[in-house]
Amino acid sequence: MCGIVGYIGYRDAYPILIKGLQRLEYRGYDSAGVALFDGTNINLAKTKGKVEDLNKKAETDISLKGTLGIGHTRWATHGVPNDINSHPHYSNSGNLVIIHNGIIENYESIKKELLKRGYTFHSETDTEVLVNLIEEVQKTEDVKLGKAVQIALNQVVGAYAIAVFDLKKPDEIVVAKLGSPLAIGVGDKEFFIASDASPFIEFTNNAVYLEDEEMAIVRLGKEIKLRKIKDDAIAYPNILELQLNLEEIEKGGYEHFMLKEIYEQPRAILDTYRGRLLADQGLIRMAGIDQNLEKFLNANRIIIVACGTSWHAGLVAEYIFEDLARIPVEVEYASEFRYRNPVITDKDVLIAISQSGETADTLAAIKLAKEKGAFVFGVCNVVGSSIARETDAGAYTHAGPEIGVASTKAFTTQITVLTLIALKLAKEKGEFSSSKFHEFLTELETIPAKVEKALESNTLIEIIADVYKDSENCLYLGRGYNFPVALEGALKLKEISYIHAEGYPAAEMKHGPIALIDEQMPVIVIATKKGHYEKVVSNIQEIKSRKGKIIAVVTEGDKQVRSLADHVVEVPETLESLTPLLTTIPLQLLSYHIAVMRGCNVDQPRNLAKSVTVE
Ligand code: M6R
Repeated sequence: MCGIVGYIGYRDAYPILIKGLQRLEYRGYDSAGVALFDGTNINLAKTKGKVEDLNKKAETDISLKGTLGIGHTRWATHGVPNDINSHPHYSNSGNLVIIHNGIIENYESIKKELLKRGYTFHSETDTEVLVNLIEEVQKTEDVKLGKAVQIALNQVVGAYAIAVFDLKKPDEIVVAKLGSPLAIGVGDKEFFIASDASPFIEFTNNAVYLEDEEMAIVRLGKEIKLRKIKDDAIAYPNILELQLNLEEIEKGGYEHFMLKEIYEQPRAILDTYRGRLLADQGLIRMAGIDQNLEKFLNANRIIIVACGTSWHAGLVAEYIFEDLARIPVEVEYASEFRYRNPVITDKDVLIAISQSGETADTLAAIKLAKEKGAFVFGVCNVVGSSIARETDAGAYTHAGPEIGVASTKAFTTQITVLTLIALKLAKEKGEFSSSKFHEFLTELETIPAKVEKALESNTLIEIIADVYKDSENCLYLGRGYNFPVALEGALKLKEISYIHAEGYPAAEMKHGPIALIDEQMPVIVIATKKGHYEKVVSNIQEIKSRKGKIIAVVTEGDKQVRSLADHVVEVPETLESLTPLLTTIPLQLLSYHIAVMRGCNVDQPRNLAKSVTVE
């Protein structure tokens, strides 16, 4: 949600800003803008629409000169998406210019005060209020920009990642963070500012991630100065060496990031268990679990909190933990959990799952659980993200950057990590014999090759997609381990193709959704051999007798469902608890192809943001 970039150094800033904004497009946005200092003036261009619209506008409207600049992609919160509400925003004097990711909750009361003091506002945004508050502090307290930003931020309530510079002091950019991510790329005599490292990775792999309530002054030719916003204490920059490379954040010959990420899953799953799953030694090694084993083994229950696809991975984990490790699990939407006064004790373990590690509701749920004394474990993809830092311990998924808004490899790698944890706990609790444990480990090692095999159905799925691309509704059914997969399949379809879709436990169909079934209704049924197969076959028969169109995901070699279904997609056979890693693949491909055929923007679906950093 909202992307920010900035540059100060010796290179032309504009190409860095535009390229950087393109790299941040995946975060979701509806308008974009840049401001550049050309040595004398600030040149600002902004527009509703895409970064390429901004580029065209900037090329004709402003001078693109300058080695200092900031840029922004806006996902509207306060004020509709239009040119005026887009960032950057000037202060009333025209000296300060700001970009902001987040929400200033008390902006209305601050605005009232500023109006009384003669300030005028052009936009409906909270951001324009903030930049004028900084200007007012600068004037009344007679302080430099850094201090003014600090004083102003102590008066605001809300979340922010900001970058601001002053026409009168064009050798520095002041940045600050609370609740929204902000990274500073540290080059040789140059600095980069961004919501994540992707805009600057080809220039430097040294980065500082600001902590919440920290601010920094990046000044030309000087070291970065970090300080705490609240009490002015000096903070020391922890410069990390990033492992990210350019290839990982580019499409690499695929038409869309989503397709690339679907195809990356065999590698991503392998990377997730590499070094952790030691089948030959009969071991699972995970530092975050090993060091906190007693907490898990003595837990009354595990509570899983997450949103969206990560919540679906949590549901799969509920089946795995209860089935294999016999530990009670509750899975909650983070957004509900945080506000419903849940009963949590220090005997609870909370697992927070998040690809981005920045989801505001999940972060708030973590803070609540920590306050109540629970041990909090994170399963995140983005290294160094807020959730990774906020949790007591955790395990990264190692999926690599996921740029497509629709989560794909994040889902399968989250399930992989959670399976490893469940297996380890099952073993430690004595729920598994050595041979059963070994059987699981060796089967898990075959999953990347089996995912590869599942991907071979791509052409068949494209043909099926062509038949159903104009459908208005779709039903997804699964049972047991594959019920969450049905939910995930439906979410994938609705978010990228805008077709209404529902996921249901197959047996629940007759309690309501069966009324929807007619010859227009495609029903995607996961009917793999292990796990309630005969029951699902009966459900298929019920659909067939009501003339629904059946697309079945089955185990290789299946004959019974093939004789009933309109279309059949096979996946290799595996253990029941590992089937979600395979059955989800055809569903991802189906939604992808349908969305492409409907002309939808697959990687940046309307209204959606990759990381939801506001509630
Ligand atoms: O980064 P997170 O995993 O915390 O994000 C949670 C959801 O916003 C995310 O899974 C969302 O539902 C995806 N667009 C689904 O494809």
